[in-house]
Amino acid sequence: MIQVPVIAIDGDASSGKTSISKMLSKELGFYFLDSGILYRTMGYIKVNENVKFDSSHDINDILSRIKLIPDKEKYFRVNFNNIDITNQLYTEDIGQQASIVSQYSLVREALLVLQHSCVSKPGLIANGRDMGTKVFPGAKLKIFMTASIEVRAERRYRELIASGLDVKLTDIQNKIAERDDSDKNRDISPLKLASDAHIIDSTDLNLETILDKILELYNI
Ligand code: DC
Repeated sequence: MIQVPVIAIDGDASSGKTSISKMLSKELGFYFLDSGILYRTMGYIKVNENVKFDSSHDINDILSRIKLIPDKEKYFRVNFNNIDITNQLYTEDIGQQASIVSQYSLVREALLVLQHSCVSKPGLIANGRDMGTKVFPGAKLKIFMTASIEVRAERRYRELIASGLDVKLTDIQNKIAERDDSDKNRDISPLKLASDAHIIDSTDLNLETILDKILELYNI
């Protein structure tokens, strides 16, 4: 049986995971799953439907209303109740809610099935916090992205300003620090380095250099 290759890209918030995943997806023609959108979806549902995520009945009902559908660039998008909610998921508030619900074991287990369903030929780029350690431990290549908190905050600040939001750099940096802390210190599936992952610090690297590095590793 031919195995569909998976490239797992884990790392800190705003470390460049998504930008590099999209470039890799284009270069290799692979599908792209940003697993953060699944936790953000759960955060969105927690807020908008007042769900407590404390029974498997709740979760199964919610899962049946979520569909992951690739767009023409092969990026998976989220449909909830048959509506594409992907563009609504990228606010800082939903990010905070995602970080909270990502600590519930019921949520993480339920989302495993959805994540595995995204593996399709010719391959999948999957990014998040536990792609290489928990969701795709057999991934062909594992990358762990990091960058200084100042650079990550600056990147996020620019994205939010460009999207028309009025935000303060210091607030963004504090929120990223809070998320780092909860992502790394939670009990289940914390953000940690897989023993066979390659670390890339993007503080002083541009995306083209990182892409070349990853392609070189993939082709070894
Ligand atoms: O990557 P992101 O900022 O969109 O992720 C939002 C939150 O979801 C993040 O704070 C932690 C959680 N998350 C997770 O626990 N596991 C993943 N594989 C992806 C995201």
